Parts: sequence; structure tokens; C-alpha cells
Amino acid sequence: MPGSFTISVNGADRAVVTDADRPLLDVLREELGLTGTKYGCGEGACGACTVILNGEAARSCITTIEEASGCEVETIEGLADRQQLHAVQQAFIDESAMQCGYCVPGQIMAAVALLRSAPQATRADVVAAMSGNLCRCCNYSRIRAAVEKASG
Ligand code: FES
Repeated sequence: MPGSFTISVNGADRAVVTDADRPLLDVLREELGLTGTKYGCGEGACGACTVILNGEAARSCITTIEEASGCEVETIEGLADRQQLHAVQQAFIDESAMQCGYCVPGQIMAAVALLRSAPQATRADVVAAMSGNLCRCCNYSRIRAAVEKASG
């Protein structure tokens, strides 16, 4: 059943009228034009759709717009300021952590959420926190090196 929902996306309130059970991922991509967040499996298993929801990494494909209503959502588009990439984005470039790049927005958002809660995250912390973010190119060693580089 359609309803009106308001979410804060990258610091700006956005209102949408849509079905309550519509995935947040669809709203971000199709209603708000924020296509940096990717569709992978659609069932919470790959991490391509990871956003930060009220400070925690979340799978936007299995989060409904009703669940996200009233929440603060951060997407890859909101990370950099006008002058500078976020430290995690820069580290992904410095460590050549992108191959096809499809999983990277989700990887970066998961890493940002991790490093906010654990700025001194170790390699073991990175592996544990990001094991659910899959990379079909299997570029895990460089991804982990990038996240370590961005950690304190
Ligand atoms: Fe959401 Fe795979 S698309 S976890």
C-alpha cells in the first residue's frame, strides 16, 4: 500500500510516495537518482547495496522504505566533500583496490562504518567486519590493505 515516507539522505530530507515494502535500494536508485549504491543479489547476501543507516552499515536491498523512514541514510555520493575524497575513497585509489569496481561503493560504505566505530581497526577486524561484502574479482587483499591504510 502506498504511503509517504521521509528519509534524510546525505544530510538532506527527501520525501517519497511509494509502497511501504519497497526496498530502500530501489528508492535511492530509481526515485532519488543515487545510482552509486549497487544491486547485486537482492537478498542481503553480497553487500553491494551497503549504505550507512543511522550510523550502521546496512543492506539497502532488504531494508524497506518504511523501515528506513525517519532515518539518516548515507550513500557513497555523500562521502566526499567538494574539495576532497573521503580517506577511505582515497585509500582505495592508492591501493588499487578496484578491479571491475561494482562492489566498491558497498565495500567503502562498510569500511567507513567500521572505521567510525573502530578507528584503529586491525586486519582481523577488517576481515571480520567486511567478510559479507563480496568481490567477484576476488580483490580482497587490496581491499583489506586499503581499509587498513585508512585506519588510524
Ligand atoms: Fe543487497 Fe546483495 S544486493 S546484499
